[in-house]
Amino acid sequence: MKLFLDTANLDEIRDGARLGVVSGVTTNPSLAASAGIGDREAYRSAVAEIASFVDGPISVEVVSTDTQGMVDEGRDIANWIPNPWVKIPSTIEGIEAIATLAGEGIRVNQTLCFSVNQAILGAQAGATVVSPFIGRLDDIGHDGIALIRDIADLFREAAVETQVMAASVRHPLHCLKAAQAGAHIATVPYRTLIQMAQHPLTDAGLARFIADWQKASQT
Ligand code: E4P
Repeated sequence: MKLFLDTANLDEIRDGARLGVVSGVTTNPSLAASAGIGDREAYRSAVAEIASFVDGPISVEVVSTDTQGMVDEGRDIANWIPNPWVKIPSTIEGIEAIATLAGEGIRVNQTLCFSVNQAILGAQAGATVVSPFIGRLDDIGHDGIALIRDIADLFREAAVETQVMAASVRHPLHCLKAAQAGAHIATVPYRTLIQMAQHPLTDAGLARFIADWQKASQT
């Protein structure tokens, strides 16, 4: 399972990219707003900067809700950077926009996916990747990981090319479970990426190794 960073914070993306394990970045209007990005030009220049230090797809979300508006925005975003994935919501207007953009060879990340049926529609429309939101499903008492498994199983059995990207990831257990459920990609907050490396026994073991080595070198 590949790991993408789910943030529009340039410092986090720069630090994350340095680790050598990040294959792409996802942004959305809320993440952009929380990174201080307040208009389309600022979004465009932030995305260009992200693309300068991440060698992989960068997802950029449209803010129109009608099909034509999404298509127009998608065509524009497709020219921003070398490897854009246009994020289109899983509405019926969005499905039509996905079909139009995919038909023009533009890569689409179908976002705000909460059901297998939405994923089936997006795959039929030609989405490159579908993003089930696992954290938001868990928040309302549903099973986000089960949705990842259901979509991944179905797509694998039917040889569907659309990939499954676990989104709305909240903690390291989501990463583990998403990988086991068959997600091709998990897009994770920077904090979660760091937490994936943390284990108290690693810290305790390292402290013991260093202490033993220092004791030995003093005798
Ligand atoms: C990424 O593509 C999504 O927009 C993001 O993971 C949503 O995360 P949230 O549910 O924590 O806002």
